[in-house]
Amino acid sequence: MAKQLACILSLLFMFFSSSKAVYNVVSLGAKTDGKTDATQAFLKAWSLACSSARADTIYVPPGRYLMKPAEFRGPCKNRVNVKIDGTLVAPSDYRVIANSNSWLLFIQVNGLSVTGGTIDAQGAGLWACKTAGKSCPSGARSITFNYANNVVISGLTSYNSQISHIVINNCNNVMVQGVKIVAPDQSPNTDGIHVQFSTGVTITSSSIKTGDDCVSIGPGTKNLWIQRVACGPGHGISIGSLGKDLNEQGVQNVTVKDSTFTGTDNGVRIKSWAKPSNGFVRGVLYQNLIMNNAKNPIIIDQIYCPDNNCPNKVQNSGVKISQVTYQNIRGTSATQVAVNFVCSSSNPCTGIRLQDVKLTYRNGAALSSCANASGTAGGVTVPGSCL
Ligand SMILES: *[C@@H]1O[C@H](CO)[C@@H](O)[C@H](O)[C@H]1NC(C)=O
Ligand SMILES: *[C@@H]1O[C@H](CO)[C@@H](O)[C@H](O)[C@H]1NC(C)=O
Repeated sequence: MAKQLACILSLLFMFFSSSKAVYNVVSLGAKTDGKTDATQAFLKAWSLACSSARADTIYVPPGRYLMKPAEFRGPCKNRVNVKIDGTLVAPSDYRVIANSNSWLLFIQVNGLSVTGGTIDAQGAGLWACKTAGKSCPSGARSITFNYANNVVISGLTSYNSQISHIVINNCNNVMVQGVKIVAPDQSPNTDGIHVQFSTGVTITSSSIKTGDDCVSIGPGTKNLWIQRVACGPGHGISIGSLGKDLNEQGVQNVTVKDSTFTGTDNGVRIKSWAKPSNGFVRGVLYQNLIMNNAKNPIIIDQIYCPDNNCPNKVQNSGVKISQVTYQNIRGTSATQVAVNFVCSSSNPCTGIRLQDVKLTYRNGAALSSCANASGTAGGVTVPGSCL
């Protein structure tokens, strides 16, 4: 009898010590009414999961959860999985989150998955303030991953961010897949996904409709892979703006393929300020892209100056752009100049390669324009290459 009991006890012990815990935020006190502040329950779930030696899961059941700015900080003892079936909403008064850098922040985490879920920052109040030209807080990013490694973000939906929807900063090995991003085309500064100082980020099978860049790629981005992204409305997929600072990390090895741009302000763009800088862009492949009435389908702009307020515009950009390939890019341009390279005269673009680029404007020929750009063209290239 004692022997049997010992056996049962040891089986039970094995069962509990090997099973992974699930921390349900509702069990920890979160209300699903979208009106009661749920932040503390989420933080409690995080501290339990993060301090556990097992790879535990935080579960967010269906419902609406009112969230104030929240910081989910590592390092954790093991990886953490966050499974969301509900919607996280920001307070309707935009000021509550607008002065925090980020509404939802994951920082210094090694091993994290965020699966499913909807986040709604209710950015309209801040956009209205900005559009009215009042003095407004700068606004919060919706979800930020800072100094995080080995992260998977899958099936997340983000509505109406105040500024950027998703930010990946100082990270390694991040997979973003099947995300959906939605904000109106006139919403200011609402970049879809911003990546900087990060290596090995992949963004796949995602839909991005927003008011600024669908994806913006900042300094220090290396080995970025973007595939099957539907962009538009939005400002396209942009490397830059770069060269704002004299000392700046470069961007290298970026692939953008199998993607579409519909009614966007740009297709694939590289932009840098006309200022001295030691930054660079090296090794970019744009492949199999469709432009549906995109303005500036292919553009390099090294005299970028968004508010036309650049007293130093006469200067040249120090950013060196090289080895950029455009392969199999087709469709329609909403402006006559479909291929436009405005490179720096002190640092001309080199190794630009156009292959099978076919872009039309109003059923007719589009134009291409080159300044300080050199490279080669092959295959069918319409408009004709100016390289
Ligand atoms: C470029 O980045 C891709 C991932 O996007 C990676 O698979 C490849 O190895 C990188 N190439 C080099 C030369 O680092
Ligand atoms: C750069 O382009 C401008 C405009 O086309 C041209 O005037 C200038 O001579 C070019 N500079 C060099 C170094 O080719």
